[in-house]
Amino acid sequence: MTAATLDTFARPLKHLRVSVTDRCNLRCGYCMPEAEYAWLPRPDLLTFEELVWLADRFASLGVESVRLTGGEPLVRQGLSSLVQQLSARPWLRDLALTTNGVLLAEQARALKDAGLKRLTVSLDTLVPSRFKALTRRDSHGAVLEGIHEAARVGFPGGLKLDTVLLRGVNDGELVPLLDFAGLVNAELRFIEYMDVGGATQWRREAVVSRAEVLERLTQAFGRLEPLPGRGAAPAERFRLPDGRTFGVIASTTQPFCGACDRARVTADGTFFTCLYAATGLELKSALRRGDGAEALEALLRDRWTGRRDRGAEARLSLSARGPLATTSQLKREPRLEMHTRGG
Ligand code: GTP
Ligand code: 5AD
Ligand code: SF4
Repeated sequence: MTAATLDTFARPLKHLRVSVTDRCNLRCGYCMPEAEYAWLPRPDLLTFEELVWLADRFASLGVESVRLTGGEPLVRQGLSSLVQQLSARPWLRDLALTTNGVLLAEQARALKDAGLKRLTVSLDTLVPSRFKALTRRDSHGAVLEGIHEAARVGFPGGLKLDTVLLRGVNDGELVPLLDFAGLVNAELRFIEYMDVGGATQWRREAVVSRAEVLERLTQAFGRLEPLPGRGAAPAERFRLPDGRTFGVIASTTQPFCGACDRARVTADGTFFTCLYAATGLELKSALRRGDGAEALEALLRDRWTGRRDRGAEARLSLSARGPLATTSQLKREPRLEMHTRGG
């Protein structure tokens, strides 16, 4: 076993989130509300071979699990080949993917066959017209088909559904979404709207808090039983009196930075130690210059051992809270975007 690499708060580096593309085929209002975006230049995107080599470097610092994100990871050509290459790494214990589900029906089988263990699909509404208003695309049917196909295919580590709650938009759907998750044998997680990256429309009043979700579900179902064993996971899990379980991710009102063991790499090979970090470490030049494994590992180790990030907690202590970045900042620095650094 590799010795843990600890940051300044003794948090180990355990999970790697790799964004394989900054492109997305939806335009969710909480993530990509603008009309136009500055995209990463295509030649800057790391090849699968480069990504796997980089993942090996992270593994030598203690990473054992990888989550592929985007943008929308399924728009990256040939993604299941990356899944296959990663799942063959001897150090890999867990391989997961976060997707919006639009292209899932056609790719679920190949992803499973390539070795994907766990799948999370974003699903914010069961109402087609609301989906269209939320995402500015007409793909609700495709997403539902994708979820059903994923359920049929069956992933060994299970299926999750992620719902970002927005007041006055989808917060009337808590119970129907839980029922739908039950039908497809998935665990639903309610996510608080975060003032992160490109969430330029964020307002405090639009956040439906963890406390409110728990109160509403208690009213609907009765006592909720908190489940133990959360560890460093973003989601707190609960059991309803009827046995169904669900999660709440309270990044906005009750952040979990104290246990955060996640590193992020963008599709162009920039290493971020926090979802909210203003700057990252550019790894592509060193990698393409042919600096060896040891040099890269030293760069990563330095960054992690000096890590002091508590991004979400820092936001919580602000008295006046609004969007993290302005649209002009985001145009200049697309790596500030949630869709670039991986949701
Ligand atoms: P598992 O526990 O492995 O299932 O992963 P996860 O809960 O990290 O899953 P997922 O990638 O689906 O993340 C769900 C949501 O949690 C993200 O979209 C974010 O809203 C939030 N989240 C994930 N990682 C972080 C993080 O490092 N910091 C903060 N503040 N929020 C995060
Ligand atoms: N707040 C909360 N979650 C967000 N995501 C993106 N933007 C935000 C935000 N502002 C996450 C959600 C969504 C995934 C695509 O990214 O989990 O399901
Ligand atoms: Fe980790 Fe930063 Fe998220 Fe806190 S805000 S949990 S430090 S990524």
